[in-house]
Amino acid sequence: MSSFKIEHFIKNSVLGLSAYKVSEVVEPQGALKLDANESNYILSKETRRRYANFIKDTLINLYPDSSSKNLLKLLEAFYNTPAKNFIFGNGSDELISIILLSLKKDVAVNIPAPSFSMYDIIARYNDLKINHIKLDEKSFDLPKNTGINKNSGNNIYFFSYPNNPTGNHFDRDIIKNLLENKNNIVVVDEAYIYFSNKESFIKYIPVYDNLIVLRTFSKIGLAGLRFGMLFAGDKLINEFKKIKLPFNINSLTLSSIEFFLNNFTEFEKNIKKTISQRDKLYSALKKLDFITAYPSDANFILIMLKDNKSKIKFNKFLKYNKIIIRSFEGDMELFYRITIGTPAENKKLIDYFKDFQENML
Ligand SMILES: Cc1ncc(COP(=O)(O)O)c(C=O)c1O
Repeated sequence: MSSFKIEHFIKNSVLGLSAYKVSEVVEPQGALKLDANESNYILSKETRRRYANFIKDTLINLYPDSSSKNLLKLLEAFYNTPAKNFIFGNGSDELISIILLSLKKDVAVNIPAPSFSMYDIIARYNDLKINHIKLDEKSFDLPKNTGINKNSGNNIYFFSYPNNPTGNHFDRDIIKNLLENKNNIVVVDEAYIYFSNKESFIKYIPVYDNLIVLRTFSKIGLAGLRFGMLFAGDKLINEFKKIKLPFNINSLTLSSIEFFLNNFTEFEKNIKKTISQRDKLYSALKKLDFITAYPSDANFILIMLKDNKSKIKFNKFLKYNKIIIRSFEGDMELFYRITIGTPAENKKLIDYFKDFQENML
């Protein structure tokens, strides 16, 4: 009997991929988990009690109802956008997938480097043409000529705003110029905008029919619920509605989002705390000699080891002390991204880093 040949069935673009690595917390007890840009603030006991009480009557015997009037009304008010111009995703990851799934093969996918890895991964297995836009090595901004001199073809741009993992915003004028060119679609991914003082692009949805804005509730304390939103004008959103699976958001998540939109003040407080902790952590990191710390408008800070000889020691130190931060490969191998934790976690991290500087180098 001949053997089963996987390559006869699965696309080369999938065979060539590695699965997305989610950090494995081998011994979670005592680990400092600061790698996934989640919020480490746990909601108060009182909020959790009221939440449990609210969702307990959710009808899980029926398929979820994403067109629930209560939820849509709340979201329309929250984002000042009519419901016809947004759809929900099982996290914004799913929405990135829906966008890329809908594209013709000759649309070039333009992705800053470095940026959020899922743009690249999903574009690859959809066999799309990818063009990496190398960011400035110091400011991490887009090159001033982004999109200029592109004489032909149709392009889509993915801009994480602020950018993951660099923490900065790209020049708004560059983004607007790209939107003015109707051979482009521009996706502004506002996963981290809650931590920045920049204005959202959502208000431009009625102005630019080639604009897509992504939002997620993951970064402000609800990563476990998996709820993202895509905003776009009628033309684009009507196509995405055809691709979106009908019951992609489960009933418990829908009820939860309704509850939390009516009880948002605790998130607002936690966002403020995260911002003030970020600024404190940045000042402390800047004082350390063995790393360069980069300013951030998000809920994480990017650092770079100044000396590549310290890399092996640093990685061992992190592992031994169960410090889980995001590391990178290739061009970025000296970089690490640290999620802002609670005050106690941030202090612990700085104490560890001081110890490393004083005793291990
Ligand atoms: C820029 C950016 N977009 C989207 C996501 C995905 O978020 P979600 O949890 O909504 O899938 C992330 C998560 O890290 C991100 O960094």
